[in-house]
Amino acid sequence: MLSNQAGDGKRTSLHGHWSSRMAFILAVTGSAVGLGNIWKFPYIAGQNGGGAFVLVYLVCVVVIGLPVMMSEILIGRRGRRNPIATMELLGKEEGSSGKWRWVGGMGVIAGILILSYYSVIAGWTLTYIVKSATGVFVDATAQVVGDEFGAFVANWKAVALCHTLFMALTVFVVAKGVEGGLERAVKFMVPALLVLMFTLLIYSINSGYFAEGVAFMFTPDFSKLSWNSVLAALGQAFFTLSIGMGAIMAYGAYLPEETSITGASVAVVGADTGIAILAGLVIFPLVFANGLDPADGPGLVFDTLPLAFGQMAGGAFFSTIFFVLLSFAAWTSAIGLMEPAVAWVVEHFNRSRAQAAVIIGGSIWVLGFGSVLSFNVLADVNFLAGTIFDNVDYLTSNIMLPLGGLLITIFAGWVMCRNSTADELGSSGMLYKAWRVLARFIAPIGILFVLINAVT
Ligand code: PHE
Repeated sequence: MLSNQAGDGKRTSLHGHWSSRMAFILAVTGSAVGLGNIWKFPYIAGQNGGGAFVLVYLVCVVVIGLPVMMSEILIGRRGRRNPIATMELLGKEEGSSGKWRWVGGMGVIAGILILSYYSVIAGWTLTYIVKSATGVFVDATAQVVGDEFGAFVANWKAVALCHTLFMALTVFVVAKGVEGGLERAVKFMVPALLVLMFTLLIYSINSGYFAEGVAFMFTPDFSKLSWNSVLAALGQAFFTLSIGMGAIMAYGAYLPEETSITGASVAVVGADTGIAILAGLVIFPLVFANGLDPADGPGLVFDTLPLAFGQMAGGAFFSTIFFVLLSFAAWTSAIGLMEPAVAWVVEHFNRSRAQAAVIIGGSIWVLGFGSVLSFNVLADVNFLAGTIFDNVDYLTSNIMLPLGGLLITIFAGWVMCRNSTADELGSSGMLYKAWRVLARFIAPIGILFVLINAVT
């Protein structure tokens, strides 16, 4: 196994470092902002009744998401290895046990499972680039847009082809490494996505149903909120922030010494949450304006946005750009999903990045067929949470990520000594104390409470 202990006792990463603080923030934002914000948040909020769900989600983001993210970055930077090796190293160093590597191991598996379906949905967005560019949605009715989506996902070969293309793109960037691949991709994507989302927002404000959309999202009706919805909100907070599975830990390993972890975390959490809310504000008015069902499920974005674009002047053009950007957002997230597994294969088996990316990417591609077929051939195979896709999603978002987050906060808050964490977070003032209370008590207790109530 390779060692990353430098002669002066300072650890360095074997994979290089981010060139600047901004590069790190962009990379973490690129990982966080993805299908989770624009595809998943609106449909999960819709399925769970809107307002009350959104409120619980926001609370989870602040009191659980933020401390978990800070914990992951500080652990990652301190260990400077892949999540498995880092947890093992720090576990021993802090006088606990090397068994903490299993937390890293669970994260690596969660990342692989998530990417197996994430890539399928990202493949849909690739198709929508072509559909938009060829004018399929110009002046289309809700019926036409809905039928178009239904016909596409029913064709498993087309879905498989797009999944293959997306996995190939992801492997390509991951193989190129930290600075060459990851940084370059995120620099313009997030700002450009924001501009287009605001353009859509103007359209949706003018749809005549903006008030209904806002009311749906922000009027909490707690009678609609089951424990399972609370768990879905917690799971969504983890998923959208890319936390609980080591992606942020892996990115933290490449973070320069002097960067403020708190500042970076607040910036990323703010940007990610803002984009999700924006997506909701765009989509729900369109849902109500067109008599669609907010609980429509995974097709929601694909049934609403093309409709809006289709009615705008220059709609084919904007729609194309939008799906290009959404594909980019998915791409930068997919990179984060693969990074822990790839970093582990590189370090543990002494492989090149390219080899590791192909091995891991190939396995994920195969697993992805479970989700490719969930929308057509195997659509009627239902068990536990639903289709294969539903089960992989439920297991990862609602169980593995929260469990990973729970163990990560316990590790950072209880196993690591005060000196170690204060050293990384760079202060012992109010902010540090606030993080420590959240990481030691509020976040772990909150996660456990939700998990126990939802499962029993
Ligand atoms: N946060 C990403 C999204 O919202 C998904 C993701 C999860 C990426 C976990 C990396 C790790 O789309």
